Amino acid sequence: MGLVSGKEILQKANKGGYAVGAFNFVNMEVLDAILSAAQDENAPVIVAASEGAIKYAGFETIVALATTGAAARKIPIALHLDHGKDMKLIEKCIKGGFTSVMIDASHAPFNENVETTKKVVEMARPKGISVEAELGRLTGVEDHVSVAERDAVLVNPAEAESFAKQTGIDSLAPAIGTSHGAFKFKGEAKLDIERLAKVKKATQLPLVLHGASSLPEEIVGLVAKFGGKLDGAHGVPDSELQKTIAGGINKVNVDTDLRLAFLGGLRRVLLEQKEEIDLRKVLGPAKEMVYKAVRSRIKVLGCSGKA
Ligand code: G3H
Ligand code: 13P
Ligand code: ZN
Repeated sequence: MGLVSGKEILQKANKGGYAVGAFNFVNMEVLDAILSAAQDENAPVIVAASEGAIKYAGFETIVALATTGAAARKIPIALHLDHGKDMKLIEKCIKGGFTSVMIDASHAPFNENVETTKKVVEMARPKGISVEAELGRLTGVEDHVSVAERDAVLVNPAEAESFAKQTGIDSLAPAIGTSHGAFKFKGEAKLDIERLAKVKKATQLPLVLHGASSLPEEIVGLVAKFGGKLDGAHGVPDSELQKTIAGGINKVNVDTDLRLAFLGGLRRVLLEQKEEIDLRKVLGPAKEMVYKAVRSRIKVLGCSGKA
């Protein structure tokens, strides 16, 4: 089908009340596993490359892998720049084959975030490329923190409304208590679903959940069984994820689960088959683990059959 704009995928998800997976990749194996899993679930999918991934694999390689991978599938696929901070790189993505970009200026004061985001929208809009921006900070929020401390970290719904109007963004990532990586919460996952629903009501935009990995027991257990150290790893439980979708999330960002799935498969082969020297037989099972993890995530998100 070829790459489509992130807008097309997310506007449909917003109308249909479901979420689409945005999965990070840094190499051919992970990308191919994501695309095959989405194809087999007949689900739309977003493949995301971070600035670090582009540096690692090379800009042209990332674009070529995603473009040829999408052309070989029959589902809507968008290529997204994740957490874009470097304006030159964002421009390169807009001109060079990405169909969706994120401008992450959430660390800057509100007005600066507005101005920077507006510049990206101006560059992207004429090419039909969608723009995601972020409000608030992606840090886990402990139960005992005060209302003022929570407000300082999480998205402010009134600000979200004004931000959306001023910038003309296509989707918004509101901080509601998730964080990146494998150690998201010390105790129970506590996401601010009420705040999320207010942001949805105020903006009506497709909303994005960062830090959405669930750290499934079968994946964490596999990594740990074969020597990985992940004590205290804790993600967003599926039930909580589904509450965020009911509250207005339409794009769910998953990286850590896939990293661990790949590593679990790799660790197992390296420890169980010490004489294996064929890379395809070493990396193949790791790729298969990612494929299974993506299919499982897509089922939880409710976007199977939505292609
Ligand atoms: O949100 C961050 C993603 O997990 C990408 O991480 O910048 O280490 O590639 P990275
Ligand atoms: P995880 O670390 O929970 O996978 O989050 C990934 C993410 O938000 C990418 O933007
Ligand atoms: Zn993120």
